[in-house]
Amino acid sequence: MGTRRRRVSVIRIRSKPVKWDDLRMEFISKCTADTISNAAQALINGHLVAFPTETVYGLGADATNEKAVSKIYSVKGRPIGHPLIVHISSINKLDQWATDIPEYAIKLAREFWPGPMTLILPRKNLAKDFITGGQNNVGLRVPDQPIALALLKKFEELGGQGIAAPSANRFGAVSPTTAQAVVEELGDYLYSDDLVLDGGQCSVGIESTIVACSGPAPRIIRPGFITSEMISSNVNLDIKDTDLGIRASGMLAKHYSPKTKVILGTSTNPGDAFIALNSVVTPENSIRVGAPTNLIEFATHLYALLREVDSKGFSNVVIAPPEGGHLADAIRDRLEKMASW
Ligand code: TXA
Ligand code: MG
Repeated sequence: MGTRRRRVSVIRIRSKPVKWDDLRMEFISKCTADTISNAAQALINGHLVAFPTETVYGLGADATNEKAVSKIYSVKGRPIGHPLIVHISSINKLDQWATDIPEYAIKLAREFWPGPMTLILPRKNLAKDFITGGQNNVGLRVPDQPIALALLKKFEELGGQGIAAPSANRFGAVSPTTAQAVVEELGDYLYSDDLVLDGGQCSVGIESTIVACSGPAPRIIRPGFITSEMISSNVNLDIKDTDLGIRASGMLAKHYSPKTKVILGTSTNPGDAFIALNSVVTPENSIRVGAPTNLIEFATHLYALLREVDSKGFSNVVIAPPEGGHLADAIRDRLEKMASW
């Protein structure tokens, strides 16, 4: 695979960290219509386009083009059969891909889309086995990022119906939250006509909340920025977070993993890297690499901090998991997975 090294076209738009709410209108003005059109046309032509979303960067392909989708698997080194999320431009496209949509799923989509939430719904014919991994349901999401939305709209104008996009990292590795991280992860594997759109730092920083919508009530199968509290108060239903037996690669034990060994807690050995909320005192002899002031900052910067730790060659990184519910749950979910191998 490493023999396929080609030039990667990086379209730089801006690379300054922003907060989720600041993000909406700002980038689009920096991103020309031509940039978006070229990227949309590249997708129509069967090429891959990595693009920013508010969660993490996605590695996109035309979700109806089997050959293009198969490139996602080879570029990521992802085992065949793992389902992919289809990104659409709006709730209006939902029933092209899904059928038998429960009322609560419509309510969730109305409330949280565009946003960091993926709904797993019974599939229509358009969602082929090469998207769903042979399962009868399909994952759908409307991202809340202007470049992603502009790309989706242009792609749909050109006849496209949805962009399949997993996180733009090699299988099992940390999701990229900057265009530079995408190039570091995948630059050796992308083809010359593939593109990477640069939208700066992702504002949410961890992957979307995945909500299975096949039963009488929604169930969270991957925690994220949209929490069970937010969901249950919206649909007024008792949300479960049990495993439905649905396959999702984020559920594998070894996932979201940096190269450096991750140890959870506050007990360090000399020379260990240390990451914790800034209220947590740095243990003696360790090297503080991250001190987010709140949970949102923790989520936004976690993956970039782990890339920094990897690049500096630490043997271990000790991370103090944040306490509490809401976003802390989602952060602990990722931390536990990266520490479990
Ligand atoms: O925030 C996100 O969700 C990002 C951005 C790019 O949208 N995407 C992302 O994709 O994290 P990925 O493939 O790295 O993780 C999506 C997870 C996988 O674990 C996949 O197995 C699961 O969603 N998934 C996708 N479609 C599914 C389906 N039909 N049924 C069950 N799980 C599904
Ligand atoms: Mg992923």
